[in-house]
Amino acid sequence: MSNPSLLILPGDGIGPEVMAEVTKIIDWYGAKGGLKFDVSEDLVGGSAYDKYGVPLTDETMAKAQEVDAVLLGAVGGPKYDTLDFSLKPERGLLRLRKEMDLFANLRPAQCFDALADFSSLKIDVVAGLDLMIVRELTAGLYFGEPRGIFEEGNERVGINTQRYTESEIDRVARSAFELARKRGNKVTSVEKANVMESGVLWREVVQKVHDEDYPDVELNHMYADNCAMQLVRAPKQFDVIVTDNMFGDILSDCAAMLTGSLGMLPSASLGAPMANGRPKAMYEPVHGSAPDIAGQGKANPIATILSFAMALRYSFDQGAEADRVEAAVETVLASGLRTADLLGEEGVQPVSTSEMGDAIVAALDASL
Ligand code: NAI
Ligand code: MG
Repeated sequence: MSNPSLLILPGDGIGPEVMAEVTKIIDWYGAKGGLKFDVSEDLVGGSAYDKYGVPLTDETMAKAQEVDAVLLGAVGGPKYDTLDFSLKPERGLLRLRKEMDLFANLRPAQCFDALADFSSLKIDVVAGLDLMIVRELTAGLYFGEPRGIFEEGNERVGINTQRYTESEIDRVARSAFELARKRGNKVTSVEKANVMESGVLWREVVQKVHDEDYPDVELNHMYADNCAMQLVRAPKQFDVIVTDNMFGDILSDCAAMLTGSLGMLPSASLGAPMANGRPKAMYEPVHGSAPDIAGQGKANPIATILSFAMALRYSFDQGAEADRVEAAVETVLASGLRTADLLGEEGVQPVSTSEMGDAIVAALDASL
């Protein structure tokens, strides 16, 4: 069997800096960790525009469709602000998401012990937290028709439509149940079936998928407003939350801030299973290209490193290795090393992007 394939798209700004640290980990796995990947690297965003005049070439798009997983840094920067909309760096990212049909956006909220007092909540509310929000990404209120601003009588009316088909709900529910089996085996499905018909259908379809194909996974249903309250009151009750595009947008940002810094937040976007059974997948940090700190060795590489750990777990079935990478991050944080975005506590030691990456590789070494 051939090695699993990875396409690395570092992008712009701090993207290449944080990706260089992931490359160290991939190299470590090849040399010592017993996992070999076929890695190719390409351009996306402003860096692709600079070289090819487009934010994503057809060749790169085709390669992204073929590989087992795409790992992306970040795109964008002030240099590209005046470009025509169709040429902006962000269009490269959107094209990847759209053509790969990545309908399930995964945003974990995970609390590292060493950063527990970074949270705005009490330590015992967040210590040990590990939840995952699965947000439907390709339908719902942000895409439904009719939409627009219309004249009605002598005033205007703004319209957006929440629209979900059974198949759109079915496929994201399956993603959530599959994930739950690799985690805590529990799914909370979130909608507002009390006031929205689309929510009634959502609940019905999720329940049906559960009963037919995932009866071993614990399922409960929750209204979105209650979920928002529960997230800040007792977030540890959740394992996997699956919800629509708009509720997921809001709840995932809320959950992310339970545990702290933008520099720590990974994400994944998954699509339908490919012929080899793996889902189409792209992994990327939540943060952007951070032009304000680019090129200064200040960026925190952990969000991108944790995105790679998600790839290990959800694309490559290497859950134990994902645990190993996460434990290495925990070890390094516990030893007091911090990039600039995490300073503030006493007794911590400021380090550069590459020093952080080196320390995580050293912790991987020590874990063998
Ligand atoms: P941003 O996430 O790039 O930065 C926000 C703030 O957080 C900045 O002060 C930055 O220095 C800091 N920050 C972000 N990541 C960090 C890290 N790993 N370590 C330490 N500090 C970090 O968002 P912003 O400033 O709104 O956007 C900058 C550019 O990035 C824009 O061109 C925007 O369009 C693009 N962007 C791209 C995204 C992507 O590629 N997925 C997502 C968000 C923004
Ligand atoms: Mg948002």
